[in-house]
Amino acid sequence: MADSTVLVLVGSLREASVNRQLADLAAETAPAGVTFERFDRLGELPFYNEDIDNESVPEVVAALRDAAARADAALVVTPEYNGSIPGVLKNAIDWLSRPYGNSALKDKPLAVIGAALGQYGGVWAHDETRKSFGIAGPRVVEDLELSLPTQTLDGKHPRESAEVAAKLRDIVGKLVAEIG
Ligand SMILES: Cc1cc2nc3c(=O)[nH]c(=O)nc-3n(C[C@H](O)[C@H](O)[C@H](O)COP(=O)(O)O)c2cc1C
Repeated sequence: MADSTVLVLVGSLREASVNRQLADLAAETAPAGVTFERFDRLGELPFYNEDIDNESVPEVVAALRDAAARADAALVVTPEYNGSIPGVLKNAIDWLSRPYGNSALKDKPLAVIGAALGQYGGVWAHDETRKSFGIAGPRVVEDLELSLPTQTLDGKHPRESAEVAAKLRDIVGKLVAEIG
């Protein structure tokens, strides 16, 4: 397989984020030749505003779109906040959805996974993230799913769960296989 790059977006800004740990583990399970590029500046993005979405967008917006343009696929790893998408991630989706009809992620395969405290592991947030990205431009790979209740990790790094590591390896392998 040709070398490829996967853009990784994490919907939690928290230092000890379980979702960031999941993203790290996903990168560790990647097949040879696949580079994971995590964009860690979602918290710096201004709120989406059409008035500033012009030829001189803020530097951080240009950096996000450049990272998306370099990528061949994307992996979104997010918790659920109040039954939905964390605001910081929704804001990034809005920036990535423009230029309208010509997103830097247009037609690229994208998978949504993550962990949350509740018994359903954030499935509402994951479904809504799929819905929103499905409108924004990328090609959402709907059947790549992992909504992990954090309690199943028992306070440990996801790396210590052979089951979670195997599931991530499977998802990453299938996501990369979707690259055209
Ligand atoms: C503002 C806020 C809202 C939350 N709402 C939900 C929720 O609706 N469902 C849920 O399962 N967990 C909810 N949680 C708990 C998060 O799932 C939990 O804190 C998770 O570990 C956050 O992910 P992180 O470790 O990657 O930061 C909420 C947490 C916060 C801070």
